[in-house]
Amino acid sequence: MKPEQLKQWAHFFLTYKFALDAVETKLNILNEEFQFIHDYNPIEHMKTRIKTPESVMQKLRRKGLDITLEDAKKHIRDIAGVRIICSFSTDIYQIVDMISKQSDVKVVEVKDYVLNPKPNGYQSIHLLVEIPVFLTDRTENVIVEIQIRTIAMDFWASLEHKIYYKFNEQIPAHIKEKLKDSADMINSLDKQMLALNVEVQQQREQAAGVNER
Ligand code: GTP
Ligand code: MG
Repeated sequence: MKPEQLKQWAHFFLTYKFALDAVETKLNILNEEFQFIHDYNPIEHMKTRIKTPESVMQKLRRKGLDITLEDAKKHIRDIAGVRIICSFSTDIYQIVDMISKQSDVKVVEVKDYVLNPKPNGYQSIHLLVEIPVFLTDRTENVIVEIQIRTIAMDFWASLEHKIYYKFNEQIPAHIKEKLKDSADMINSLDKQMLALNVEVQQQREQAAGVNER
């Protein structure tokens, strides 16, 4: 690649870093204010990552697209990614709602694998959002992928991901079945923890009510 071209690609990736920084700041603000008002943080923790240039080019090749900035911008929509981990499934929708309401955020796609899990058992919500990045001489609208899931869903997804690669993507049928069973257990665990939390919350409110009288 010529130095001029290399510089263009580096600039391209820089815009994704800026977009990711902006989204991270938005999420930190939401979490901190939520904590201040409700004494509760919907975000347990989050991770950000930018796809490497090699991985973007590989994906372009795999999809039969041109190795150009135009095709990368248009077709590779997970160059910048944030993964948000919450305690409860209700937190997931709370976060989706708060992000969607922001006037400078355009939600371009929602995949709800919490309501409709993948056949293998994978659960998460994936949002593709477009946000403006204000550069020195122009405004660039940049896509960021946001994955939101509970701690339990994340536990399952991390292990499944490892197993998937260990078996070179050809997972034996009985292991697939066990993974699906584990996903069902994760699902009922999430439901149980949520019910527990609702109960604790109600008791706290009742106790506060008694104290006020
Ligand atoms: P990609 O080209 O892989 O980005 O696919 P997509 O846009 O068609 O898929 P989707 O939005 O469903 O998934 C994108 C990302 O979600 C993946 O890169 C993973 O990080 C995660 N993901 C999706 N499905 C699974 C799964 O079955 N198991 C695990 N562990 N992660 C998954
Ligand atoms: Mg992806």
